[in-house]
Amino acid sequence: MTEPVTVAKGLEGIVAAATKLSDVQGQAGRLLYCGYDIADLAAHSTFEETVYLLWYDALPTQAQLDTFQSKLAAARALPDGVIAQLQTYPHDATPMDILRTVVSLLGVYDHEKGEAVKTAETQALRLTAQMATIAAAWNSIRNGHAPLAPRADLNHAANFLYMLNGVEPDPRAARILDTAFVLHADHSLNASTFVARAIASTLSDMYSAIVGALAALKGPLHGGANEATMRTLLKLGSVEAVEPYVVETLAHKGKIMGFGHRVYRADDPRAVILEKIARQAAKVTGNYKWFEMQEKMRAAVQARKNLPVNVDFYSASVYYSLGIPVDLFTPVFAASRIAGWTAHVLEQYADNRLIRPDALYVGKKDLNYIPLAARVAAPHPT
Ligand SMILES: CC(C)(COP(=O)(O)OP(=O)(O)OC[C@H]1O[C@@H](n2cnc3c(N)ncnc32)[C@H](O)[C@@H]1OP(=O)(O)O)[C@@H](O)C(=O)NCCC(=O)NCCS
Repeated sequence: MTEPVTVAKGLEGIVAAATKLSDVQGQAGRLLYCGYDIADLAAHSTFEETVYLLWYDALPTQAQLDTFQSKLAAARALPDGVIAQLQTYPHDATPMDILRTVVSLLGVYDHEKGEAVKTAETQALRLTAQMATIAAAWNSIRNGHAPLAPRADLNHAANFLYMLNGVEPDPRAARILDTAFVLHADHSLNASTFVARAIASTLSDMYSAIVGALAALKGPLHGGANEATMRTLLKLGSVEAVEPYVVETLAHKGKIMGFGHRVYRADDPRAVILEKIARQAAKVTGNYKWFEMQEKMRAAVQARKNLPVNVDFYSASVYYSLGIPVDLFTPVFAASRIAGWTAHVLEQYADNRLIRPDALYVGKKDLNYIPLAARVAAPHPT
């Protein structure tokens, strides 16, 4: 094996997989799913159509969509044993920890045995249907209520809002969330998707791959940034507080959540669409404060640093205006990204090779072994 000479820190610039799913055009600020511009999908398609597109590489006909939607809707309920377990978890648990744990548990309750590759599509369908159910059911349970049964007559987004709030949502609110789901469905080899593909490449199963993806999404440098963005806005509390915060944070080389991206050099195209949705959401609720703070923050950041705004920035105020609790923002992201994760796992299985990069060894070499009795304590940390 040839020793690598340089280390691509953070794997920046390394092409680690071929994919037909997302085409991220970082310089141009464009994103396409299976060849379709997300602006068109966001304007005209539903989340269910987007999932179909990602899994089957074609937009569905009406008949195909009807069948697919029925299958997804029928798979939403969680097994009774899983609900019973959920009731035992501490109510102050972080929802992303709950999601990660419950997906693992769903693997235990899945009695369909067989090779991971053969059962993957059925499991993809179940997990895509159930991710939103877990988040909504947990929110009920932690607030001391019995979780509502999912409604098969509502789509993925509307059913989530129904399960969360106990009332059928305003169709405008449901469409806003549906569009956000379309925009978050896939994004090439981001950290969580890479983890999912690496796990799948060992021929481990779909549940295991998704548990890993959820663990990666939780971090504030990835999906957790939407929660962190909203917490910053809530802490600042007014438009006037925004600019001093930006100046102070940048002066100390701090990070402002919702800005920056490994791939985009122009504004994230999802953020461009979400900005319009955030404005619309403010109009629907009559509360413009968070949106105005965000516009101020974006102007203040971009006047000082060439940082693109990313997907998590405006999704924060969109989710907030829909009444979604802040600590459910990242689970809501997961309830959409499950489409992409599962699609990537299926793509990995279809043309698999174990993902196993090299590392450049930079530690000590050729030391003489020291017997236990002769060792002198090394200073900590070593
Ligand atoms: C997304 C992110 C992790 C990409 O990281 P990356 O490609 O490794 O880029 P780096 O963190 O090395 O940042 C490069 C430079 O931009 C700066 N930068 C990047 N994001 C920044 C942010 N959100 N606020 C302030 N400065 C930022 C870094 O400080 C660094 O500056 P320097 O060259 O003067 O040291 C990073 O932009 C970030 O932490 N953003 C905030 C979290 C976030 O919104 N995540 C969601 C991503 S969709």
